[in-house]
This record gives sequence, structure tokens and C-alpha cells, in this order.
Amino acid sequence: MPIENSKVPISLRLKNLSKCYSEAGRKIEILDNVNAELNQGDVVALIGKSGCGKTTLLNLISGIDRADSGEIWIGNTLLNNLSEEELTLIRRNRVGIVFQFFNLIPTLSVIENVSLPRELNGSQGANVSSNAKELLIRVGLGDRLNSYPDVLSGGEQQRVAIARALINDPDLILADEPTGNLDDDTAKEILELLLSVARDRGKTMIVATHSSEIINFADKLYTIHSGNLIPGQSGS
Ligand SMILES: Nc1ncnc2c1ncn2[C@@H]1O[C@H](COP(=O)(O)OP(=O)(O)O)[C@@H](O)[C@H]1O
Ligand SMILES: [Mg+2]
Repeated sequence: MPIENSKVPISLRLKNLSKCYSEAGRKIEILDNVNAELNQGDVVALIGKSGCGKTTLLNLISGIDRADSGEIWIGNTLLNNLSEEELTLIRRNRVGIVFQFFNLIPTLSVIENVSLPRELNGSQGANVSSNAKELLIRVGLGDRLNSYPDVLSGGEQQRVAIARALINDPDLILADEPTGNLDDDTAKEILELLLSVARDRGKTMIVATHSSEIINFADKLYTIHSGNLIPGQSGS
């Protein structure tokens, strides 16, 4: 559902956000005073050339990395002043992350991989397993609960990662080139799955991507170019 309604709560706000890296003594401004406001339920495509700063921005939002200046708000929570421990909790509970290379734990079964973020929160037992199973059925892997990642195809591994990203019922889903390591047909299936789970549950989602598919289905489009976050442009 496209949302342009002032009554819909703000899900994510970036305010004058800047981040630079130093390379060989030279300062490179990756994000230069960027601003954005997403409403609950927005699906956003984040595009731009390789190296423009998409992963950097997603890592700031998930609290993996810290900004040099500016503010990041997830709902009513300002990330800037939080401790590493508090950021870890935010990342675990309020953000679901899907990576290009799936990042499953090879020594855990499919259902154990999906259950892990809940168990890290101290939840255990039948309730966790049944939620994990329900999510795995939702992503089409109800018959692979006890398989290990190495016997799954790339697309199947990404389905597991999508279920894992949802297990703590996050407010925000961040997907960093989630189809970058998949063939075209599988990429299309995975994007459709991501879109449908985000829409079903009213999740705010940012997908960093080269795929024209998501660009067509997204509510909002942002391009990073020369440190700027530009709304409503297509990639070049
Ligand atoms: N930890 C780091 N130290 C120094 N430079 C970095 C670091 N992480 C990323 N960069 C640089 O920042 C730029 C943006 O990288 P990234 O956010 O990964 O781009 P994208 O995801 O759009 O391909 C690149 O030039 C990259 O080399
Ligand atoms: Mg990247």
C-alpha cells in the first residue's frame, strides 16, 4: 500500500547524516548531510553505482557502524547516543537484515538458523520453534526444516535468511543487494517473496539493489550519488 498519509507513523528518519572514510590520508565523504523520512510500511529501493555508499548507509541504520554527524531515528528512538550494547539490542529486535551472501550459520540447521535471533533474546522452546516453522512454511521451506545450509541452493538459503530476518517481528527490514548472488529467475522469486512478506506485515523495508523489478514496485526510490541521497531518481 503506498502511504502518503500524515497519520501514518514515521518509521525511519535520517537528519543531516554524514559519514566519511579516510583513505591514504584523504578524507572521502561517502554520505554528505543526507536526509530522509520513511513512513511505516514504505518499501524503498536504494540504488546507485557500486561504491556509492548503499552498504554504508544500511550499516549506519542498523547500528553496525556509526555516523560522523547527524541523527538516525528508528520510530521514536534516536540511535546516536546509544551504547554498543543498546545498538545490538535494537539491531536484534527492531531491524531484520538480509545480506547478499545470506550469512547463515553452517553448523546450524535451517530451523536453528531462523530460531537463533529469538534465542539470543532469551526465548526458548516450543513457541520459538513453532514461530520459526511457521515462517519457514511462509517462505516455502516447510519441508527443509532440518536441512543444513550447504545442501540448499542460493535461493533457498536466501529464503532462510528472510525467515530469520522476520523472527523477531522487526519494524524495519534492510536488504543489501539480496539478489546480487542469484540467477535472474531466482532473483525475481526472492524479490517477490521479500515484497510480499513486507507488504503482508506492513513492514518498512529498504532494498539496496540494481534490480529494475524492485524499482517498479517500491513506494519510494532513493539514489546515492556523490554523497547525496536523492529522492525519486532512477539509476545511471
Ligand atoms: N571501513 C571502510 N573503510 C574505508 N573505506 C570504506 C569502508 N567501507 C566502505 N568504504 C568505502 O566507502 C565507499 C562506499 O562503499 P559501500 O557503502 O560499500 O558502497 P556500495 O554498497 O554502494 O557498493 C567505497 O568507496 C568503499 O571503498
Ligand atoms: Mg554494497
